[in-house]
Amino acid sequence: MWPLLGLAFLLGGAGEEPKGGAVATPLNIAHRGARSVAPENTLAAARAAAALGADGWEFDVRRTADGELVLVHDETLTRTTNARDLFPDRSPWRVAEFTLAEIRTLDAGSWFVREDPYGTLRSGEVSAAAARAFRGERVPILREALLLSRELGLWVNIELKGAPLAPLSPDRRATVEEVAAAVRELGMEDRVLISSFDHEMIRHLKAVAPGIPGALLTTVLPPSAVDYARALRADAVNPSLEAYTPEWGHRLQEAGLRVYVWTVDDPAALGKLAADPHVTGLITDWPQRLRAILGR
Ligand code: G3P
Ligand code: CA
Repeated sequence: MWPLLGLAFLLGGAGEEPKGGAVATPLNIAHRGARSVAPENTLAAARAAAALGADGWEFDVRRTADGELVLVHDETLTRTTNARDLFPDRSPWRVAEFTLAEIRTLDAGSWFVREDPYGTLRSGEVSAAAARAFRGERVPILREALLLSRELGLWVNIELKGAPLAPLSPDRRATVEEVAAAVRELGMEDRVLISSFDHEMIRHLKAVAPGIPGALLTTVLPPSAVDYARALRADAVNPSLEAYTPEWGHRLQEAGLRVYVWTVDDPAALGKLAADPHVTGLITDWPQRLRAILGR
């Protein structure tokens, strides 16, 4: 995840000084959309995030067999769509082995109604009418997700799914460039953050589109994290809740790096981190909980 840490020192802390600084309250970012109340990575989840008062949403981007960019978290389509039913002989149903036209025939909403993964249908937080409307929800393409975000006034964290520690492949290079081009074309440079566990994708982003903020996703913060992030010209470091400490928040912020912590769902943890001036944003499945804590 933090490869060639020694090399980071050799490369030095090159690059522009990213913007940082203490924050009054963190951004409320709905993880994969408001996935506690709507099917993840769908336009319905973005609408739910906006309705619940989130400042923004995070979503995952993958490439189809014909090179289109779609919102899917897993490497395969089986958990969040009916791909297994519609294409029974296409095991293991990898996103990268389906064309966009095929993916667009899938239902990305019914699984949520069937499985009620957060118990919000059972509790009544999601109404029967809302649940019915999720049936037949489609897998969005990147452009649709960005356009809707702009319309709803939502800030966006685009996570590029990649291959950490592998050399940058032509496919992943193209993904970075196409995402950056879409962000630029829609004039959304100041309302997006592009993140990845694949740090080579972020290095490439900052080389081809230095004006678009990039973040390093990580589950560990080694001592050389600041130098490493600077060498890649990252603007932010996005640690898991388990990796984050206020001391690390302080160090990163002092270095001008923004800090987005994921995935914070527990009310006590949300309360604690909402009061931490080093945290730029909190990525949560429950933006409604964070909204209640932030009082906005
Ligand atoms: O961006 C934070 C978080 O989304 C990373 O993990 O597995 O939910 O994509 P994952
Ligand atoms: Ca994600």
